[in-house]
Amino acid sequence: MEWRHKDLISLEGWTREELHFFLEQADYMDELMNRPIKKVPALRGKMVVNCFFENSTRTRVSFELAEKMLSADVVNWSASGSSTSKGETLRDTVWTLEAMGADAVVVRHGAVGVPDYLSKKLHRASVFNAGDGTNGHPTQALLDLHSARKKLGDLDGAKMAMIGDVLHSRVARSDIQAFRKMGVSVTLSGPATLMPEDTASLGVEYVSDAREAARGADILYFLRIQRERQEDGLIPSIDEYHRRWGATDSLVALASPKAAVMHPGPMNRGVEIASSVADGPNSVILGQVRSGVAVRMALLYLCLGGAR
Ligand code: CP
Repeated sequence: MEWRHKDLISLEGWTREELHFFLEQADYMDELMNRPIKKVPALRGKMVVNCFFENSTRTRVSFELAEKMLSADVVNWSASGSSTSKGETLRDTVWTLEAMGADAVVVRHGAVGVPDYLSKKLHRASVFNAGDGTNGHPTQALLDLHSARKKLGDLDGAKMAMIGDVLHSRVARSDIQAFRKMGVSVTLSGPATLMPEDTASLGVEYVSDAREAARGADILYFLRIQRERQEDGLIPSIDEYHRRWGATDSLVALASPKAAVMHPGPMNRGVEIASSVADGPNSVILGQVRSGVAVRMALLYLCLGGAR
């Protein structure tokens, strides 16, 4: 397949065939990670700048590892200590990085739309969205597809229960889009106060009772709950949230016996997920982390012309 994407801002324009092709590339990168020497020269001479305006462990480290395994030159730019403190705009900042030879900019930002804006302003460099506000986190969706497929095989016809704070979750938005494209039906559950109004337009159904969502599910996806949601009055007490919507052994027992338990991290153990589930036999949470490296390698390889 001829790869036609230069940037990754959202998965909206990706076809199911492209997702399949992409995941096969990620499988190859996953194999490469098992080799004693985990480095190939595919992106030698390319420069990638990681711009994280928000904190991150998984996304930042896995992008950096992926870049290094493909032999790209890596620059970790950070807002603190940069000339943004002197009033330099975001546009001038990325133009400066591009003028120095950046071939790609990986950006995480608290404001919705920043990666899209940068992709329109940059002249040559690729832009990869590493999470923008509550809008999207497309590489998380790709790694989630990759790790779910590793556990379950073909996802067409699978059932996913996504439980938690959908309203504030960029992961939820990207995952719903990606899993539906692969033929997965998605049922949301969680407090009604943490659901978007437009669940029907997202092509998903909502049930308040997490047990109803979990019954027979192939994938149980738990979203992070931020404690400040309780202060905002959006959830009952943390204990009640855990009892009603948390990942407990009794909730997991309602799902398919081979169900994949997923969480994007970072986890609040004892809030949205019990440790016995996070570390239990159905959990693929560390597999998701590993897939993060393979998937970001595949993305860089395809979009920066490694395949050519
Ligand atoms: N899942 C995720 O984006 O984690 P980080 O915030 O640690 O990157």
